[in-house]
Formats: sequence, C-alpha cells, structure tokens
Amino acid sequence: MPTDMPTEMSGSAEKLIRGRRATRAFRPDAVPEETMRAIFSLAGAAPSNSNAQPWRVEVVSGAARERLADALETAHAERRTSVDFPYSDDMYAPVHQVRRAAFGAQLYGALGIGPGDHEARAAYDAESLRFYGAPHAAFLFVAGNGGAPGGARLAADVGAYMQTLLLAMAAYGVASCPQGLLSFYADTVRDELAVPEGKLLVGISFGYADEAAPVNRVTAERVALEAVATFHR
Ligand SMILES: Cc1cc2nc3c(=O)[nH]c(=O)nc-3n(C[C@H](O)[C@H](O)[C@H](O)COP(=O)(O)O)c2cc1C
Repeated sequence: MPTDMPTEMSGSAEKLIRGRRATRAFRPDAVPEETMRAIFSLAGAAPSNSNAQPWRVEVVSGAARERLADALETAHAERRTSVDFPYSDDMYAPVHQVRRAAFGAQLYGALGIGPGDHEARAAYDAESLRFYGAPHAAFLFVAGNGGAPGGARLAADVGAYMQTLLLAMAAYGVASCPQGLLSFYADTVRDELAVPEGKLLVGISFGYADEAAPVNRVTAERVALEAVATFHR
C-alpha cells in the first residue's frame, strides 16, 4: 500500500458520500444566495464526455417556487403529464424490481401507509409535487439533441452533474431529494420557467432538513460489493 495515501481526505469523502441521503421533509428556511452560488459552481466541476458539460439547471425559490408548485398541482389534478425521457416499469430487471419493492415498503412504512393503500400512496406522491416543503428546487435539463444517436450519453453526463450537485449540497449542510416524479411534468416546468430547449431529466428539492421528521430516518441499504463489481486480473 502506498505510504502517501490521503487517509484524512478519504475519511471525509466517505463521510460526505455516505452522509448524503434523500430528504423528504424540510424546514422552510432559505439557503443564502451566496451558499447557493457556491454549491452550483462546485457542481459544475462534474465530469462530462469531452468536457461538453451538456447540462442546464433552472433553480426556483420564493414566489417562482410557489407558482411552479401550484402549476404542478394543477397539471397533476388535470392529468397533464409529459415526459422527455420515456419511463416504463419494464426497464427494470427482476432483481432491481425486488430492491425497489423493498425500498418502497420501507418508505411508506415510515409514513404509516400500508402496502395495499394505493389511495394514500397516490396522495403522498401528489403532495410531493410541492417539493416536500423544500424552499428551493433545481431542474436539470439535458441540453443538445438527446434524440440523436448516442443521445443517452448526454443524459449520463447530466447524471454525473446531479450527483456532484447533491454532494456539493451535502458539503454545505444542504439536504436534497432528487425527484424523478417532477420530470413527469416536463411541459409544465418548461412553460412556467420559459425554458426554450433541453429535455428535463430530474428535479431536485433542496433546503435544510427537518431532522425531527420520521421519514428522514429512512435508510436505503445498498447491496454487497460482490453483487455489482467484478475485479478482473
Ligand atoms: C434519478 C432519481 C430519481 C428519484 N426520484 C425520486 C422521487 O420521485 N421521489 C422520491 O421520494 N425519491 C426519489 N429518488 C430518491 C431515491 O429513492 C433514493 O436516492 C434511493 O432510495 C437511495 O436512497 P438515498 O438517496 O437516501 O441514499 C430519486 C433518486 C434518483 C437518483
């Protein structure tokens, strides 16, 4: 083992990476503008294919956040969904379906919602369109022509941006929840924020965690290393 391993740094990296959690209840306090700028410029350090940086991010706070939450609620009530990235349950392999079901049971269990209570689950999902009470939300768009051959690679770059952003937030004590659900209302987000181009990949609610909320104590376990990695020699 090299003697110059940066053990102190890897210790804090581990704390940061493992400490980031999806947060689903927030305090109303706003993140200061300066902190916000520091977080988003740090996120820009994310890697991308040929350094193209094919992302755009739109951040809502204050009155803009309220207007968008209202518009999302109305779109949901009127069943006006629109996706830029098609979704289907079939995209998951059976092993992934098992993990999803286990996580769902844990999450809804913490919320006191029973497994067969589809009505309560639907109501909770609808409510989450108000960003779980977070004072801010960021919308990540894939810029460029995602429909061109290889366009999925652009979305992978934006995925790298997303995780860098989530870690940058965690480093500043800012809690977050990536919400794929928000991407099911792509046209509403685009119209409300006058976004001229790009495909909406995900929305991220963020702010300061409500530490007392039981839902924020949900821990999503990970599979063992051997289940996902092979080391070839
Ligand atoms: C692309 C993406 C979409 C997600 N969509 C949702 C969502 O719509 N609602 C939600 O409550 N959590 C959502 N999550 C959070 C995941 O459930 C969470 O990251 C996962 O269970 C692992 O838990 P952890 O983030 O606390 O480690 C999403 C996460 C990602 C990366």
